[in-house]
Formats: sequence, C-alpha cells, structure tokens
Amino acid sequence: MTMQQPYPDRAATTAAFADHVDRGKATLLGSFGADIVMGRRSGIHFWDAFDGRRFVNCHCNGGVFNLGHRHPRVLAAVRAAMDELDLGNDHLISGWRARLAERLAATTGGRLPAVVFGVGGAEAVEVAIKVARARTGRGGVVSAVGGYHGHSGLAMATGDPAYRDPFGPNLPQFHQVPFNDLAAMDAAVGDETAAVLLEPIPATLGIVPPEPGYLAGVQTLCRERGVLFVLDEVQTGLGRTGTVWYHEQEALEPDVVITAKALSGGVYPITATLMTREGHAVFDEHPYVHVSTFGGAELGCVAALTVLDVIEEPGFLERVSTLGEWFESELAGLPCTLRRRGMFMGLKFDDPYGGVAAAGKLIAAGVFAVFANNDPSVLQFLPPLVISDDEAEELVHMVRGAVA
Ligand SMILES: Cc1ncc(COP(=O)(O)O)c(C=O)c1O
Repeated sequence: MTMQQPYPDRAATTAAFADHVDRGKATLLGSFGADIVMGRRSGIHFWDAFDGRRFVNCHCNGGVFNLGHRHPRVLAAVRAAMDELDLGNDHLISGWRARLAERLAATTGGRLPAVVFGVGGAEAVEVAIKVARARTGRGGVVSAVGGYHGHSGLAMATGDPAYRDPFGPNLPQFHQVPFNDLAAMDAAVGDETAAVLLEPIPATLGIVPPEPGYLAGVQTLCRERGVLFVLDEVQTGLGRTGTVWYHEQEALEPDVVITAKALSGGVYPITATLMTREGHAVFDEHPYVHVSTFGGAELGCVAALTVLDVIEEPGFLERVSTLGEWFESELAGLPCTLRRRGMFMGLKFDDPYGGVAAAGKLIAAGVFAVFANNDPSVLQFLPPLVISDDEAEELVHMVRGAVA
C-alpha cells in the first residue's frame, strides 16, 4: 500500500512547502528541475510522489542511505523494538546505549572506548570541541577552509563565512587553513589550540583526497603540541571508503572520531562522538554537564546496532572496495577526473560549474546526485553501498549517457 501524500499534487505540495518551510529552497530546486517530491523508496531507488519518475539515489544524503532506503534488516529490528521500547531516558542507565557504545569502541580496536551520543552531526561535532577544550584547558580550534561540520554553534564556527556571516560575528578562537597545506597547519596550531578538526576527505569541498602524509603530519603536529586530533568521519565513516573508518587506511590514531548520518540506517537519527577515556573524563566528573534528551534514543541504538551488524558481515567492506575499483574503470574516459576512496567518489570537471551541469543531466536521466557546495566543479557521487551488480551496470550506463 502506498501512503497517501498530504497534498494532492506537486503544485500544492510545493506551494505549502514554500509558504511554511523554505521558500528559497522551493524556488532554487524548481529552477534546475530538481523539485522532486520523494514518494515511495526502496533499496537504491526512490520515486517521485506525483509523476512516478524513479531515481537511483547517488546523493545518499552524505551517507544516510549507505544501506539504501529502508534496509530490511534495519526495519525489522526497529519494528520489533517499537513493540517494547521508545526513546528511553538519557538520564538513566541504558543497556542499549552501552551495547552500541561497546560495539563502536570495538571498531577502533578499543582505542576510543568512550562514546557520547547525539541526534545530529553538528551536535556530535560540538561534543568533540567541548571535549578538546575541557581536556586541554585551551580554546582554539583549527579547521579546513571549505570544510563542513554542521550549522549550529561551535560546529558552524568551524565553517566558511558564507554560512555564518548572516548570523552575526563569529565566535573567537576559530581558525581555518587550506586543506592539504601542512605548512599552514603548522603555523596555525599553537599554545592556544585545543583541537584540529578535519574531515579526512572533505566532502563539501569536493571529495578532496588527502595528500600522502598530510593527515599523519597533522596528527604529529597535534601530538607534539598537546592538541586533540579530531576526525569528522560523518561522511567517510561506516564503510563508505571500504573500511569502517577512513583513518584506518592511513593508520591514524585520532583522539576523537565523529560519526552520524549512516549510523541512523536512514531510519532513526542517532550520532556518536568516540573518544579516549581521558577525553571523556570531564563527563565522569560532571555526569550532567552535557545532556542530549534525544541523543542515543534507544530505538536509534537498535537501528545503529543493525547498521554495524550489516557492515561487519564478512565480505561487505571488501565488496565496497571492489565495487569502487569497478566504478573507476567503468567511468574512465568521461570528461572529468574521478576522485575516489572506496565508494566515496567525486567527478571533477574543468568547468567551474561542471558539477552543477552534471547534476542537472543526471537528474533528468534518473540518477539523483548533487554538486559539492564549496566547489561546484565537482559532482558528489555516492551510490548506496548495497548496490547489486546489475544495478551498478545500469547506473554506469545512465551516468555515461548523461555525462559524456
Ligand atoms: C562531514 C560532516 N560533518 C558534519 C555534518 C553535520 O551533520 P548534521 O547535518 O547531521 O548536523 C555534516 C552534514 O552534512 C557533514 O557532512
């Protein structure tokens, strides 16, 4: 049975959305044929609610739909949990939170044994910054120009001026340096620095791969100067690059790791900030110094535990790596360069708006993908990790047809 839409057609839906949710978004999306209204969704696809157009979801909302839409195992687990559980109470002891934290800790080989849960990625970033400040007694935070860590308070302060200037002066002690520029990082990290916060592969900047040795160099600077090395693996984590965490591929040992999007299984929002026991000490002293009412909701824990079950199945991560290589060979010869780690992919065009143009063509061809906001020459290309061989063949055919 298809759930009935709240409004009878696209025009009424768009008008109500524009009136009450976001006029700017309605206008902008309409201007390039992306005024899609998500209807039915299943696996790698979703369908427009009104004209039935089918899209392969290669946006995946930055990883939210890494396991596709409505993964049967995630749904079954959450459905079963709904018969007995609800949000739980973040003021109390919870076996579900404990089990999820234990499983997340195990993904780091026990190096980051303590976890703070949240609801959104920005919140998880804020926790990381709070932890770094408490641990070091310093205030400074260095992040990358064009990086993206979310749009609230401390997280917004780490981002680009375009996203914060409308909202007044930035917070003090936040500095940005160009990504992949170790000398600039060296100059920026000093006695006042609490944390260096980086996406290992900045997504909004255009899926920019780190230069060999760059991240290790930043980690060394951090160690030498008593600064916490914080990796935002919100997009790169949970299997997208072919390992649970991207940082494993460079044998890095971050002090804090942030995960969000994919942890939800696309079904129930939950995020986590993983840290060392020492980093977590501030919460041991003041257990209610940081509270998140919905953070680590028990239904979300059930969803997240199932996500871990799926990505830890034998062969799952190997397949992501193999598929990534396959995409690389199949997309060779297109008028763009492929940036890729596992199935975290970006198509870089020479034209400064090549990613925008490609997104328009792909949407028309039935592939939903978007350009990188801070570098519109790049199309972000994130097929669901659960894509089958046949679906991948069909997808490549569509992409080649649209982009060539
Ligand atoms: C790398 C990264 N960090 C943090 C965030 C913020 O997550 P949220 O939108 O859940 O606050 C995002 C969101 O796109 C992200 O891509």
